[in-house]
Amino acid sequence: MSLTQTTYDELRQIAARYPEARSGLLPMLHLVQSAEGRITPEGIEACAEVLGISAAEVSGVATFYTMYKRKPVGDYHVGVCTNTLCAVMGGDAIFERLKDHLEVGNDETTDRRPEDKHSITLEHIECNAACDYAPVMTVNWEFMDDMTPQSATQLVDDLRSGAEVSSTRGARICTWREAERVLAGFPDDRADEGPSAGPASLVGLGIARENGWTAPEVEGRPAVAAGQGSRERAAESADTSRAETETKVDESPADAKHLDNPAKGDDAQ
Ligand code: FES
Repeated sequence: MSLTQTTYDELRQIAARYPEARSGLLPMLHLVQSAEGRITPEGIEACAEVLGISAAEVSGVATFYTMYKRKPVGDYHVGVCTNTLCAVMGGDAIFERLKDHLEVGNDETTDRRPEDKHSITLEHIECNAACDYAPVMTVNWEFMDDMTPQSATQLVDDLRSGAEVSSTRGARICTWREAERVLAGFPDDRADEGPSAGPASLVGLGIARENGWTAPEVEGRPAVAAGQGSRERAAESADTSRAETETKVDESPADAKHLDNPAKGDDAQ
């Protein structure tokens, strides 16, 4: 398969997003994967041509990051976290079960049986910073939380059969190539599907709210209450700057509570 004119145009489109065109290399490589199912020699040459750099420079990047694949990936990329926490919580058992169930090893792709609609590439992955939901799996980098060997086998069976699958905290799962296109910066309008953060990730925030804690004050910025939105913070920050400019008020410490020393905040109230 060779890259189409549309893909070349889209590679140029990505490069044009950045003040320094070569900053677009990472999303460009995702687009190559979307089009070709892996990083191909032609894809490397295409990126090099668009960016005016050498194929060796592109190859150096493509071989450094584990999200870029030199072997063809199946319709779905299924990752099992086998890093320490997930491993002890069951990740190792899940990975062993899936290897047996799918009859593949690490970084291998299933043969498509007559009853299968889709193929699966299985890979053990490192910590995805989702340890609060260990053991965690991913499908095309979407999270599947609190997995068990049973739910993992059901998941891959559903994917192979073509049943609709949703991440436990995100969008409906698309194919790996479609997901690669999103990583290249071409949205599929599923970003707002599903919750953005689950209860386990919000436990600390709930405790902070219950206790009225705020983030430690940073010099020149107001204290931030637990859960206060970034827009609100930006607006408050702008208001504060304006007030400081207009009235030249003294920057005395706010009566904020501190996460690292709640007692300090209690004293201040
Ligand atoms: S150890 Fe698995 S997500 Fe952190």
